[in-house]
Amino acid sequence: MSLSNRLIIFDTTLRDGEQSPGASMTKDEKLRIARQLERMRVDVIEAGFAAASPGDFEAIRAIASHVKESTICSLSRANDRDIARAAEALAPAPRRRIHTFIATSPLHMKMKLRMEPEQVLEQAKLAVRFARQFTDDIEFSPEDGSRSEEDFLCRVLEGVIAEGATTINFPDTVGYAVPEIFGETIKRLRTRIPNSDKAIWSVHCHNDLGLAVANSLAGVMIGGARQIECTINGLGERAGNTALEEVVMAVRTRSDYFKLDLGIDTTQIVPASKMVSQITGFAVQPNKAVVGANAFAHASGIHQDGILKARETYEIMRAEDVGWTANKIVLGKLSGRNAFKQRLQELGIELDSEQEVNAAFARFKELADRKAEIFDEDIMALVADEEQAQDSETYRFVSLAQRSETGETPSARVVFAMDGKEVVAEGQGDGPVDATVNAIESQAQTGAELVLFSINAISNGTQSQGEVTMRLSKNGRIVNGVGSDPDIIVASAKAYLAGLNKLHSKVERLNPQG
Ligand code: KIV
Ligand code: ZN
Repeated sequence: MSLSNRLIIFDTTLRDGEQSPGASMTKDEKLRIARQLERMRVDVIEAGFAAASPGDFEAIRAIASHVKESTICSLSRANDRDIARAAEALAPAPRRRIHTFIATSPLHMKMKLRMEPEQVLEQAKLAVRFARQFTDDIEFSPEDGSRSEEDFLCRVLEGVIAEGATTINFPDTVGYAVPEIFGETIKRLRTRIPNSDKAIWSVHCHNDLGLAVANSLAGVMIGGARQIECTINGLGERAGNTALEEVVMAVRTRSDYFKLDLGIDTTQIVPASKMVSQITGFAVQPNKAVVGANAFAHASGIHQDGILKARETYEIMRAEDVGWTANKIVLGKLSGRNAFKQRLQELGIELDSEQEVNAAFARFKELADRKAEIFDEDIMALVADEEQAQDSETYRFVSLAQRSETGETPSARVVFAMDGKEVVAEGQGDGPVDATVNAIESQAQTGAELVLFSINAISNGTQSQGEVTMRLSKNGRIVNGVGSDPDIIVASAKAYLAGLNKLHSKVERLNPQG
């Protein structure tokens, strides 16, 4: 069978991306991202792992009920319970896919599964057979594929295709592969497996050696894969997954070489990147390809001169083609509720109720009183803040007074609500942020450990809001709290309280690969 020219983009930000420590998202946050992925015309959205927790199940169900254009997928281990749960969560989706997997490498089979290869083969086939009753669109992954024995892989993959698997996804689970070998392996598997042409081949690469994008593209060009699994900003376990923005723009920019068609609306890439970064608190490094703040900035005189004479001298893509827009002042102090609501719509932000619009508008007015120019990024941040606050109300920021002076010990006085009751907390510290966290802890006494602190300017200039991410750890759980405010110490207090709220919501979930 001749290979199609259509490259399928399978986004797993909401599943593999969410497995990144601290990146867990609420149902509403996932739904916002899913809607953005649909706007970007992603072919398949892996919305989660339905059997992991009731929260994951509900999020997949909500996405399956709202997203109409993309295929919605749930991951499931190769057992009837997980598969039935995935099918139930996906039921409302017009197009649904069940993605089942089992490890096939000697190491994983022996040490993790404690199963014999023959048992793994049988379980893989049974899982696909069982999944077929719920949908015709079945994806199968041999986990740790790149470290599995080829003869065994041939038997497993031939078996699952015979049972009805329509996509075979070849994962480099631990990011161990190198491009040429990875591509050649897929090519050999496709040649050796007699029914290989009955399935679309896919790649799923992790970035431990910084090779995820290169491996994915080799899987396509050498191996003949026609689906790439990827995440926005390369989010994902450990060093992350293949970055969607990078593979998509490589294929589009070098269409002379790849000769592949994509369904993606690339102008939605930067808005998606900002949304994922704001929701998860994972900042995008400035020199990150395509979506980093410097990706289209030309600092050197020679480059600037060249760009002014002819843009193509130093630019291979146009910033506007991936969704970069000049920071626009969109609203101000005098803007009314209707203008605000319309801007939310233009940004693709759909709030669930008029009550939520009112709460966001109240926050907007508060901000507009303190900050003359309000940018799209400010609106996105305030909606993210509001959603965090709605999800869990255990801790809520009220006000802060802080004092620091050269030669003096910084101190902070934070007023916040704890279970609906206002408390006044005072503390000192090495710096104003330390004093603020100490003040909050003096009352909340959670014992959470701050493992990462980062601060970013949301827009340009010193009037920009600061967006603070605080990663907190407690009893082995890691969460990210995000807070934004023109005052970075207030943003820090909000981020810390948001993190405590997440730690407080006792989400118990399984890691599919755990
Ligand atoms: O990395 C991996 O192997 C996975 C599979 C579940 C596809 O995420
Ligand atoms: Zn993975």
